Amino acid sequence: MDSIQEQIEKLKKEKHAVILAHYYVPGEVQDVADEIGDSFYLSKKAKESDADILVFAGVSFMGESAKILNPTKKVLLPVPEADCPMAHMADARRIARMREQYEDLAVVCYINSTAELKTLSDVCVTSANAVRIVKALPNRNIFFLPDGNLAAYVAEQVPQKHVICNDGFCPVHKRITPQDVLRAKEQHPGAQFLVHPECTRDVLALADFIGSTSEIISFVENSPESEFIIGTETGVFHEIYLRCPDRVLYPVMEEQSCEGMKRITLESVLKCLQQESGEVFLEESVSRRASHALDEMLRLAKA
Ligand code: 13P
Ligand code: SF4
Repeated sequence: MDSIQEQIEKLKKEKHAVILAHYYVPGEVQDVADEIGDSFYLSKKAKESDADILVFAGVSFMGESAKILNPTKKVLLPVPEADCPMAHMADARRIARMREQYEDLAVVCYINSTAELKTLSDVCVTSANAVRIVKALPNRNIFFLPDGNLAAYVAEQVPQKHVICNDGFCPVHKRITPQDVLRAKEQHPGAQFLVHPECTRDVLALADFIGSTSEIISFVENSPESEFIIGTETGVFHEIYLRCPDRVLYPVMEEQSCEGMKRITLESVLKCLQQESGEVFLEESVSRRASHALDEMLRLAKA
């Protein structure tokens, strides 16, 4: 009997399928993936892929984005119910009100959002490119949604713009408090503190480095230091230990785990490949309108 990993490998070849996995899914799922990365990297890979089937090991907005970017492919989610709560934390009526209030408004939508919210937005961003893209926009008034913490970070980095922050948040990153960070720093005085911009501003203020998941991983890889306190979901530890096993990593606190991401198991990936289940379907009009914001992100990120 083949192992679960061998069965997955066989099915990938047979069906001309690829697995795209986010750094937050369990390590054994990352190990069977063809591409592992942060949201921006995976969006590019989904767009470029010539496979027949894309299995997206991640939460539902990631599968939706892959389908929008490459609509002729069959996109499968191993656990379609695995969701990012923040992806829903914005209100279409508030977007409409903002557009009425500011003539030159750009609605900037973090990729962690539903397809519906993307249809109402001018451009998508990820944590890896939000600052660069907001800087590049001709508009002065920016409504940034759904994440209020990333919005506040962008506002600080791009003071020449008027960034209006929505009030959504990631429950995993919001949970980390300055007190937790100070405690971790006291316990590990030689460690650098690296953090994702979804954390609150008072936590970011204590950081040695702020970046997306892949930027945090690269920072550790290229740093001469050896100890790090990591202020993001602990799924990134897997890739860091593969690239640099000598590094010592500490979470800020115990509960730094994303429930949705951790629902993706090897068994669910195998079942999804066997049964071609969990297919992402989007209405054509939603897909078409949402694709504008995602394509704009890819265009502006290159510029
Ligand atoms: P990245 O853009 O760094 O991959 O982050 C995605 C995410 O869900 C963070 O919570
Ligand atoms: Fe959403 Fe937070 Fe999980 Fe990222 S870590 S997918 S923002 S709930």
